[in-house]
Amino acid sequence: MSQSDAKSRSQVFEASEDIGTNNSCSPTLGDVIATRMSRRDLMGGLLATTAIGAVLSETAFAAQQASTTPSFNFTEVLAGSDDTIHVAAGYDADVMIRWGDKVLRNAPAFDPQRQTPASQASQFGYNNDFLGYLPLRGSSQNGLLVVNHEYTNEELMFPGVGRQDTTKFSKMTKQLVDIEMMAHGGSVIEIRKRRGKWSVVENSPYNRRITGTTEMRISGPAAGHSMLKTKADPTGTRVLGMLNNCAGGMTPWGNWLSCEENFNGYFFGSAQGHPNEKALRRYGVPSNWFNWGEHYERFDVTKEPNESNRFGWIVEIDPMDPKSTPVKRTAMGRIKHEGAGGIVNRDGRYVVYSGDDERFDYVYKFVTEGRVNRRNKAANRDLLDKGTLYVAKYNADGTGEWMALVHGQGKLTAENGFADQAAVLVNARLAGDALGATKMDRPEDIDVEPRSNKVYLMLTNNANRKSDQVDAANPRAGNRFGHIIEMMPDGGDHASTRFRWEILVKCGDHTDPKVGASFNPATTKDGWFGMPDNLMIDPRGRLWIATDGNSPLATGRADGVWALETEGKARGTAKHFFRCPNGAELCGPCMTPDMTTMFVAIQHPGESEDPKVLATFEKPSTRWPDFKPDLPPRPAIVAITKRGGGRIA
Ligand code: FEO
Ligand code: CA
Ligand code: CA
Repeated sequence: MSQSDAKSRSQVFEASEDIGTNNSCSPTLGDVIATRMSRRDLMGGLLATTAIGAVLSETAFAAQQASTTPSFNFTEVLAGSDDTIHVAAGYDADVMIRWGDKVLRNAPAFDPQRQTPASQASQFGYNNDFLGYLPLRGSSQNGLLVVNHEYTNEELMFPGVGRQDTTKFSKMTKQLVDIEMMAHGGSVIEIRKRRGKWSVVENSPYNRRITGTTEMRISGPAAGHSMLKTKADPTGTRVLGMLNNCAGGMTPWGNWLSCEENFNGYFFGSAQGHPNEKALRRYGVPSNWFNWGEHYERFDVTKEPNESNRFGWIVEIDPMDPKSTPVKRTAMGRIKHEGAGGIVNRDGRYVVYSGDDERFDYVYKFVTEGRVNRRNKAANRDLLDKGTLYVAKYNADGTGEWMALVHGQGKLTAENGFADQAAVLVNARLAGDALGATKMDRPEDIDVEPRSNKVYLMLTNNANRKSDQVDAANPRAGNRFGHIIEMMPDGGDHASTRFRWEILVKCGDHTDPKVGASFNPATTKDGWFGMPDNLMIDPRGRLWIATDGNSPLATGRADGVWALETEGKARGTAKHFFRCPNGAELCGPCMTPDMTTMFVAIQHPGESEDPKVLATFEKPSTRWPDFKPDLPPRPAIVAITKRGGGRIA
């Protein structure tokens, strides 16, 4: 048995977030104490001339923090873990759609004993992650919900399979591989609220499944480049499927940005002797987590050297047109994108922030060349194809800079292995290495609060950071519980190459001095959390955090949703709102514009809570949400509403 056998898929993902090793040698930024000193020096007026602008924006920053802002109003749920979901008192949490439920007109009833690729292709996919609500005619009672289906857990999906030994995959037949491919991708579902309850509109013309085989277009500067050409696609512009789509974003023109994250896991074979071995290793390709390469040549890097370059992108999809071709936008770079947090900058350009979720990897932003047209959706058709990609450097004094990833500038030249802009974008990680970007503690979601222009960045954890590797922005060695950084672009201009930042909260049990957490002391024993992952900024500008990695062993609590105060005296106070069932992480929280519904995605319920014990189809850690002995646990979307109506919290 290989080492991974006792691990569920998500535990393998978690363990391997450092698989594509970052061997670059950008300097560490100094230790925490030095940072606090230099910050105090700045505040005390000992100014280097270059710091004046930064201090001015810090003053604005402090003024904003002191302003009175809305805070949360609900009774906390108890932290803990069991086989079902829990929501704050006075709220209902109703399952709206589960893995295997009907999406398309022809979908058969879910039967886990007789699942086929065709049935799965018409049913709701596995491991729902990002959620985006697109109102129809402005409604908060009727809209399209877009859903990412990140990955599959063969041990929980298929009877009698168990967790596969990744050197043999002895039970993973082509039929099961094809089901897996169909369970990936995304769903668009029309949903409607009637008499206070949400349901999927059956046979809606909008309902759509996107899978690991849906044809997509590749656009932007790397489209058609030799690095993207394959035997099946000599044009380098068409690719089948999107994979490991984690979080994402919704653009102001109503399109869905769906982000390919751990794409390395689908590639098979060995990097040894590959023409781009260095780049493959930097991305952890191949990781052999799935055996698709045994049945499909394109996933075997020894047979199709370029296919992996066609994954790791942000995919733009028009949910209003079920016939539209999804587009992989290469201008935004190829990394393990967690999400895509966007904002229309004050000059009209669109800015998309994105984290590269791996230990010691980077934070990026993309600034379009053109401006958003809010009146004419079609005018934004190619907006995301032209612009500048930047990577972040966090200085110890609380300033930061965005360094442009532009071919020919600085070290991004042919002599250093970057033949052209396509090479910079396809190997964005290597470009970030060359520029000395700051190595972060696994950047997950990042998003903007549009009124304050503050940017919130989730850093989920990095137990591998050694004490000689700590820096101001990643101040804890062996960072098991993660932290949250608040960033402020200089002058509130998201196109600026400068920003200020500070740590909003270091996560974990703040009552245990050994943990070094920094929640506001007003936070209760239920209110603290570890491992922040996704975030939602609600229409009132308040911050909600979704977690991945809490468990009875890690933190004495299940994953879930927490509200986090960001302003005034309450800043840094967290409150527990919703709790996942055993084995699950919480993904994709989103709200209707009227704030009366919060949708949450429950991902991989039923996984084991103990890494030494394997949960399977036959023996899951919960059978949520059906609790029937013949049904496995099923990832599902839950709609949370206030009993009797009204806005949430
Ligand atoms: Fe798919 Fe970084 O979580
Ligand atoms: Ca995530
Ligand atoms: Ca995660």
